[in-house]
Order: sequence, then structure tokens, then C-alpha cells
Amino acid sequence: MIAPGLLVPRSRGEETRQALLDAGLLRTDLEILHDGPSLVLPVEGDPSEIPPSWGAVVEREFRTHSGGGPVRYRDLLPWKDSEKDALPRAFDVVGDIVLLRLPLPLQPRKAEVGEALLHFVPGARLVGLDHGVHGPERRRSVERIAGTGGWRTRHRENGVELEVDVERAYFSPRLAREHALVARDVRAGDQVYDLCCGVGPFALTIARLGRASHVTAVDSNPAAIALLRASLARQPGGDRVTPREASLEEFLPSASPVERVVMNLPHEGIKYLTSVARTVAPGGSLYYYEVVSRTEFSGRGTALVNRLTEAGTFTVEETRVVHPYSPSSDLVAFVVQRSR
Ligand SMILES: C[S@@+](CC[C@H](N)C(=O)[O-])C[C@H]1O[C@@H](n2cnc3c(N)ncnc32)[C@H](O)[C@@H]1O
Repeated sequence: MIAPGLLVPRSRGEETRQALLDAGLLRTDLEILHDGPSLVLPVEGDPSEIPPSWGAVVEREFRTHSGGGPVRYRDLLPWKDSEKDALPRAFDVVGDIVLLRLPLPLQPRKAEVGEALLHFVPGARLVGLDHGVHGPERRRSVERIAGTGGWRTRHRENGVELEVDVERAYFSPRLAREHALVARDVRAGDQVYDLCCGVGPFALTIARLGRASHVTAVDSNPAAIALLRASLARQPGGDRVTPREASLEEFLPSASPVERVVMNLPHEGIKYLTSVARTVAPGGSLYYYEVVSRTEFSGRGTALVNRLTEAGTFTVEETRVVHPYSPSSDLVAFVVQRSR
């Protein structure tokens, strides 16, 4: 069948496939097309939701997946197609917990949707409605719609096993690629600050690769730090990470400069940016995350380094879209380097 697809170089195929899947934009009922040095990933929904930097949207003839069981959880629901079209395409899997955002008109039927997901996702134990993250600690408000047990689980990503409590401390499986990219940049002997570390996916991934001499992981949420301690106790190399239950206000004034600083506090990080930049050693890098409107994307990196002149001279090394945040904005990673 003829359908829209995203044209990407093969080398970026897997990361783009995962990003589209996370964003609920990948059509899983159609096969990926191989087109010389490129892949065409079948997409659904509004193509304008796809960040232009991910590739060009083209029309192609795709084959449907042959045989096997249901390719979408909606196939397990005995609903009319018009009703199924209103279901969200994307859901998150955290350990053995499935999280879904359901539009209000569909919420009276949440138990049916929950049962479908419980059967569709291999190994799922509990399905929750995700009512979003709230407050300075970005805690998620969740409501059980199917399955049993509590909100604590173990989640695997990038070869790391994380203790997660979906309700008590922030965690998003949509950041897995970002955790790996930052960890890969760390060089032998680097010291690292993971600021606003949550349950510590950056710190744990960096520690697993074993190149950092030390990682200090800071968060003001006591539950997040307790979960990180539990993960560290089981992870080889965990002794190179020091978890600190502290606010940025408490930690930053006495922090000595280090080679790598990560700060993932997308909505409020800007108010700490200059003081955080002071903790980056000459030649070191800062990984700063922000939700950016697509119309401001191209100039945002320069605007950020211009704000930092009182902390030092910084240049933008890389700007990358992590995932779409809303129809008109993306979560963006800015990698900025301090001059020597
Ligand atoms: C978006 S989460 C990031 C978690 C983690 N870096 C990750 O990638 O999963 C932001 C975290 O910042 C923490 N936080 C918010 N304000 C803070 C502050 N002023 N000082 C320290 N931590 C703070 C919250 O508790 C939360 O865990």
C-alpha cells in the first residue's frame, strides 16, 4: 500500500526507528523499506510532528507484515475501527509496567484498554494511566487500570538495571538513547556531575562504561536518591558514583569544576544555567536539556552560550532533538564546551 515514510540514512536507521516508536509515530503494521543507502520507515499520524532534522517524509509503496499475532494493541479490542482510531499509538514500558496516556473521552473504557495492553506487551504485570509529571520533583501521577502489584520495578536499558518507582521519582524510558550518547562521550579519568539525576540513569550508564574516575549524582528528591543507592549496590563499578541528596542551591556554590556536567531539568534548568556552567572545567562539556519551540530551534544554542559569558567562553558542540515534546516543540540536548 502507498503510505508516508521517513527517509533516513541506514546508519541512523535504528536510532530513528526507536525515536519514532517512542513518539508513537512508527507504523508497526508495515515493513521497513530498504532503498539503497537509505531506509524508509513507515510513519503514521501528523507528519509535521516529526522533527525535520530526523529526515524527509516521502510517499512509498510498503508491504504489510505477514503472519504472526497482532501488531498493535488496538487489534485486541473488539471495537469499531473509527473508535480504535482515537486510541493513542504510543505507550511506555518501564520494567514490567505499561504506562499510557488516554484521551478523556476514552477513559470510561480504560479497563478494556488496560487488559488489551496487559496481553499485548510481553511480560507486563501492571498497566497504569499516566496523568503526567508534577511539581519540582517531576513525580508521575498514575492510576492502575489493569494488572496487579505496586509501582516499583526494575528497568533495563543500555545494559544497566535501574530501580524505578514510577510514582515516587522521575524516570522516562524515552531518554535511553540520550543516556547512552552522553556516557559514550566520557573519556578516561573524567570527573562527572549528574545534576538532577533522578534515579540515576546517566550516572549508572557512565559508571557501567567504566571510564569516568568519579560521578557525583545530585537530586533533591530523597526517593530518587534511595532508588539510585539500591541500583548502585547491585552494579559493578557502582562505588565510583556518589549519590547526594541535595538541591542545586545547596550543591552548586561549593562544587569544584569537573570535565563533564549533565543537567536534565528541561523546564527550570535555565535559571541555574550560569551557576552550573561555572562547574565545567576548561575544555570540559555541559549537557543541557530544554524544551524548545521549533521556530526557535536554530538560534537557541547561540542564545544559550551568549548567556554564559559571565561564567566563561562556551561554544555549541552539538544540538540534537531527543524527542518531540508537543506538536510544536521538542526536547533538545545542547552540548556546549568550555574553552581551555
Ligand atoms: C526531568 S527529571 C531528570 C531525571 C534524570 N536526569 C533522568 O534522565 O531520568 C528532573 C529531576 O530534577 C530534580 N530536581 C528538581 N529541582 C531540583 C533542584 N532544585 N535541585 C536538585 N534536584 C532537583 C527532580 O527531583 C527530578 O528528579
